[in-house]
Amino acid sequence: MRARDRVALVTGAARGIGAAIAARLVVDGHPVVLADVLDEVEGTAASLREAGHEARAIRLDVSDEAQVVGLPRALGAWWERLGILVNNAGISPKPEGRARPVRDTPTEEWRRVLEVNLTGAFLVSRACIPPLAARHWGRIVMIASQAARTKSRIAGAHYAASKSGLLGLARRLAVELGPEGVTVNSVAPGRIDTPMARGSASAVNDAFLADIPLGRAGSPEEVAAVVAFLVSDAASYLNGATIDVGGGSFMP
Ligand code: NAI
Repeated sequence: MRARDRVALVTGAARGIGAAIAARLVVDGHPVVLADVLDEVEGTAASLREAGHEARAIRLDVSDEAQVVGLPRALGAWWERLGILVNNAGISPKPEGRARPVRDTPTEEWRRVLEVNLTGAFLVSRACIPPLAARHWGRIVMIASQAARTKSRIAGAHYAASKSGLLGLARRLAVELGPEGVTVNSVAPGRIDTPMARGSASAVNDAFLADIPLGRAGSPEEVAAVVAFLVSDAASYLNGATIDVGGGSFMP
């Protein structure tokens, strides 16, 4: 199968890491569906098309089951060619640049983070299984976080719990889908320079950066390069793995 026969769906692709993943996968020859709640996803996809690539934008709230169930209809012929899913959409509420401590976290905020970061990935993954299994080839990649691998220094407990849950979801999916020819792996980014990271207070960011052996935040493109590897044929024997992309800020 050629890359152009493996359509990729990237959630949360309007900006940041998701946009960089979409931009990398089109360069590698994949038609890419960029899904996001933000209007700007249209412009992100349009700029990829202007560069001569195959890209489409769809409005999708990953936590809305009705919208997710409508994906096959929304994508039409592209749906049957689906080969790759990257669950990247995520939120990390930080009012005034800092995550709230658990004692001050409203239940509504807790639920919303779990719904987007974890239930959203569950809903979209479940929806994508039929086309991936039908061709007996597929790749699912979860964009987790360093907060799922060790203590969360910046993000709140809801975020850490959701991303830890994502790793559990990935491991179980890897067991279920391996026999179907579909691999499921996770990437755990450390500090990456995106709108989400810029939402933290500068003192919070500075303290984190001081503890990164490479001495700098990562770029969205550096995460995208790892995702590109995971969805390639070169990663054919990786399944249920988690790759830390943090410049050495976390070493297991
Ligand atoms: P970002 O905030 O710049 O981009 C996230 C994108 O997800 C946005 O376009 C947003 O509209 C979209 N999104 C949010 N809720 C959505 C929903 N319900 N349905 C569909 N799309 C939705 O954030 P960034 O930094 O690019 O993060 C991407 C992923 O990487 C997230 O899952 C985040 O948790 C993870 N990550 C980021 C790190 C960083 O330092 N920037 C570190 C570790 C993980």
